[in-house]
Amino acid sequence: MSALLFRLDGGEPFVRALAAAGLGTPAEVEIRRFPDGESGVRVAVDVRGRDAIVVAPLFPPDERLVPLLLLAATLDDLGAARVGLVAPYLAYLRQDARFREGEGITSRYVARLLSGSFDWLATIDPHLHRFASLGEIYSIPTQVIPAAPAIAAWVRARVPRPLLVGPDGESEPWVARVAAEVGAPFAVARKERRGDRDVTVTLPDLAAHRDRVPVVVDDIASTARTQVAVVSQLRAAGFAPPVCVAVHALFVGDAHAALVAAGAGAIVTCNTVPHPTNAIDMAPALAAALAAPGSVAR
Ligand code: R5P
Repeated sequence: MSALLFRLDGGEPFVRALAAAGLGTPAEVEIRRFPDGESGVRVAVDVRGRDAIVVAPLFPPDERLVPLLLLAATLDDLGAARVGLVAPYLAYLRQDARFREGEGITSRYVARLLSGSFDWLATIDPHLHRFASLGEIYSIPTQVIPAAPAIAAWVRARVPRPLLVGPDGESEPWVARVAAEVGAPFAVARKERRGDRDVTVTLPDLAAHRDRVPVVVDDIASTARTQVAVVSQLRAAGFAPPVCVAVHALFVGDAHAALVAAGAGAIVTCNTVPHPTNAIDMAPALAAALAAPGSVAR
């Protein structure tokens, strides 16, 4: 019997794609908020002996985590067989070290919670910096679906003579992959972050590429101060308004407005977190990856 596909807000396009790929049948869950702020969960279908897949973009993170954990526990309690998590955006990966004495390494703790609640996890471009893979902190099978091919297809179709620009050293392998698929050159800036909204970047010498359209690619746009810094430098160097691409469109507070004000041209994102800038649909790639033999969902 095929799996039941549940979703939290923002999971709709992914559930549709998973269903179209033959991975399961959409099913309803009621998540309600009691007046005192607690969450209530009701699963309206018989899950006994059936596999379940929960699709949940984990943003805003804390608001999503409690209902998600309660849903996983409810499915288990009602007798579901395997319960998988598809988190197009997987939160809680940025605190991957104890930067100051006494800090918790929250990525490890959330990984422990999710590993205890689900049988497998699939996600798109998780923010892995100090961990080489999700397997370092998750004890369940995990699968990562890369956004680079979809981003490259978008850039190829819409940006003439692009120059791919990564904002920091971490972005290099990733920007290099997009650039290779587009068939365009790339450059990587050096970033210094002194605070949440205090970021400076230094660009390499880009004089040879001045006639190209810069495409700044980053995995997460949170405060967008990283992309703001890159865009400001590119504009100061005489480049055309840069196209800004992010996989995960968090855009907290004034982030989007700040990026526009800095001189960005088009701002586009993947639909791993619902946002008006979503222009690159990751649902088909995710569904194809999970439908393939050997995937965590099989
Ligand atoms: C950093 O390591 C990430 O790759 C992003 O550059 C960062 O998360 C972006 O954050 P913000 O939008 O707040 O500058």
